Amino acid sequence: MTTNQRIIFNEMPHGLPNPKTSLIVDNTLSIDLDNVPLEGGILVKALAFSLDPYMRNRMRPVDIQGDIDAFPLGETITGFSVAVVLRSETPLIQAGQYVYGFMHYQRYSVIPSIDANALGMKGLSLQVLDNKYNLPWRYYVGILGMSGQTAYYGLKDISNPKPGETLYISAACGAVGHLVVQLAKAQGLKVIASCGSDQKVSLVKSLGADHVFNYKTADTAAELKAHGPIDIYFDLVGGPTLEAAINNLACNARLVICGMISQYNLGTNEAYGIRNLWLLNRYRAKMQGLVVIDWADKYLDEFHDTVPRDLAAGKLKYLEHVYHGMDRVGEALVDLLVGNNIGKSVLVLEDDA
Ligand SMILES: NC(=O)c1ccc[n+]([C@@H]2O[C@H](COP(=O)([O-])OP(=O)(O)OC[C@H]3O[C@@H](n4cnc5c(N)ncnc54)[C@H](OP(=O)(O)O)[C@@H]3O)[C@@H](O)[C@H]2O)c1
Repeated sequence: MTTNQRIIFNEMPHGLPNPKTSLIVDNTLSIDLDNVPLEGGILVKALAFSLDPYMRNRMRPVDIQGDIDAFPLGETITGFSVAVVLRSETPLIQAGQYVYGFMHYQRYSVIPSIDANALGMKGLSLQVLDNKYNLPWRYYVGILGMSGQTAYYGLKDISNPKPGETLYISAACGAVGHLVVQLAKAQGLKVIASCGSDQKVSLVKSLGADHVFNYKTADTAAELKAHGPIDIYFDLVGGPTLEAAINNLACNARLVICGMISQYNLGTNEAYGIRNLWLLNRYRAKMQGLVVIDWADKYLDEFHDTVPRDLAAGKLKYLEHVYHGMDRVGEALVDLLVGNNIGKSVLVLEDDA
């Protein structure tokens, strides 16, 4: 028998999660890797887990509805993971192949009843990876996975960018933001970017952004007034930043509402109320929510054709914040909620991941 280490949701946070007690590692389970029944499915070994801001939204009581299921207390958490197949009972996947998708955050998982239909779906379902540029497998939970897809899809229909337009991106040194900067520059946009430290400002400038400021030391509204107006606001933070962006829109602006991380650790009554929505009328602006999985059917093949190629060719740079070992999970999640991460936060379990 082999220990099957896993991450469980241990304590409901009020405000910022406690890095030591909210998510903990459990070593009490074991698994017989040679004989565990697969029920026609596969046995996988996890190599890397994605860490994402939406996980904070799942740390709520299960009876409170959200856009994605709450984590039940005491149970293994789930999220985007990359894994190697150890055994298979389906002709659709062979042992030795690598898969990406929504899985339990545990070292070994049996994924039963895989059928061809599920593999064909492009949202949350399992994908067999074709790593033709031989990139590190962990990239599939970052730039080549959900974070990269969010940046890529958001710059498609909703943004509808035209060369010469001005895009503003917040949280610009994070997993999604630093890719938005580069994809927007590649499409001929002027990019204004904000992030939370001078080190991040330098990094985002090095990725090609035209004007970058530290929102903790500069006045966001004044920066946007001086460098705008904004044709596209790719919103990752919400709150006062969104309000400042709305004040500085160009006519016919588009707002991609992708995330509101400034609000995730607040109670419902503490949420920041945007006071200037009426300006959307004056500027004939469009505001639309983006949920990454909605766009996979339309753009995932194009994404797989272009982003790995451009990354391998050095046309795209990837910033990663790697944490080794499951026991770093609580610290890593809090780091990204407070801005201590640079680029994509990944929990890596194998040296060669
Ligand atoms: N809709 C979707 O399908 C989808 C998919 C992926 C991500 N998202 C959303 O996109 C956003 C970014 O996600 P990510 O994975 O790229 O995370 P990330 O940027 O790697 O990490 C979050 C960053 O947010 C910034 N931040 C934290 N609190 C803030 C505050 N009060 N005001 C301004 N910035 C703050 C921090 O950077 P600073 O140092 O700059 O403060 C932190 O590094 C999140 O809101 C997430 O929920 C949405």
